Amino acid sequence: MLAAAVRRVAWTAATKTTTTVTRRPQQAFFHASAAVAHGSGKDLKDAPRITLNWVGKKGEEFTTDGIVGESILDAAHRHDVELEGACEGVCACSTCHVILEDPMFDELEDPSEEEEDMLDQAFGLTPTSRLGCQVELTQAQDGMKIKLPTATRNFYIDGHVPKPH
Ligand code: FES
Repeated sequence: MLAAAVRRVAWTAATKTTTTVTRRPQQAFFHASAAVAHGSGKDLKDAPRITLNWVGKKGEEFTTDGIVGESILDAAHRHDVELEGACEGVCACSTCHVILEDPMFDELEDPSEEEEDMLDQAFGLTPTSRLGCQVELTQAQDGMKIKLPTATRNFYIDGHVPKPH
């Protein structure tokens, strides 16, 4: 059941060094991370709500709700949480990088190969990093803590931060 730990090389821009990050193997106890399409068109108005506990880029803590069936990125955008999503949730950037806590991280389904590839581009990669657009909220994630990294790797030359739409 447990896959071998995936080793990653993370680039740390501040120190211009590379470090090896070992991502811990995950156990899939429930379905949680199918690719979540941007604007999935799901009717979630009657879906259950859960509580999400955020830690912002400056360490500030706040709470929002999350709707079962939406992605972490969608929940962030509904509440103006500072999580970019430059590719609009199609797993083609790393600007929706979030850091999860145990035990929630271990209970998520393993990331897809595409998500792993994009995570390789993420600033401040950790062993419990995920892409917010690829984690679909479930009831079991009620109370989950989601930390925003202090920076993201956005390839806009002028530093433009795209607005969700
Ligand atoms: Fe681009 Fe998640 S928004 S990978």
